[in-house]
Amino acid sequence: MWLAQRVQRVRPSGVRKIFDLARKAKDPVNMSLGEPDFDVPVPIKEEAVEWTRKGFNKYPPSGGIPELREKLSAYLKARDIFCEDVVITPGVTGGILLALMVTLDPGDEVLIPDPSFVMYEYQTSLLGGTPVFFDTYPDFTLREELLRRAITKKTKIIIINSPNNPTGAVCSRRSWRWLHGSRGKRISSSFRTIFTSVSFMKGKARHPVSASCVRTSSPSEGSRRPGA
Ligand SMILES: Cc1ncc(COP(=O)(O)O)c(C=O)c1O
Repeated sequence: MWLAQRVQRVRPSGVRKIFDLARKAKDPVNMSLGEPDFDVPVPIKEEAVEWTRKGFNKYPPSGGIPELREKLSAYLKARDIFCEDVVITPGVTGGILLALMVTLDPGDEVLIPDPSFVMYEYQTSLLGGTPVFFDTYPDFTLREELLRRAITKKTKIIIINSPNNPTGAVCSRRSWRWLHGSRGKRISSSFRTIFTSVSFMKGKARHPVSASCVRTSSPSEGSRRPGA
């Protein structure tokens, strides 16, 4: 087998099985991928064409166009979200992968809410980390007690997706405070990084961001630009 061992460890996603089943269904309603039922707004298309005409087609610096990084930083600051740095990636998928690559060592555990977006488990496994799920059933809220029990000496990262995909559950202020306040206490050495992925909130998400937090955000589905 010429495929790398880390790829062979990955089990097929249940989502893909559903896609296969749906393909056989007669006239199914597609609620799978987060694609809105409207086209990319014309001003956005025109803006993209305009910049292409202006010759804005070269490789940008690796971290993204400096003016864009500055603008995003100011945008987040105006919403009480303070970041040490802002990096532009082609989508949240690439952003989280990069963040995991620079933080995970083999065997490190990544705490992931169950249920949650499918990619966290796969990215973790591909990088040699161990995905550990913590239960959020039946109301999909984060319960400190369960999370506390899931934390071990190997826990490196907690992934919080708020609002969560697929449940839509939002992490409460109390939970955010607990997550951030726990640093420096008994479990502090256990986790160092919290990924938050907030995709659809417009200025409503007031999430404290600390030095140990990587926050990823994507305009993709909200403005009908998947992967943007
Ligand atoms: C929670 C979550 N993370 C990441 C993604 C992928 O985002 P992007 O298209 O920016 O890579 C999605 C898309 O549905 C998502 O729901």
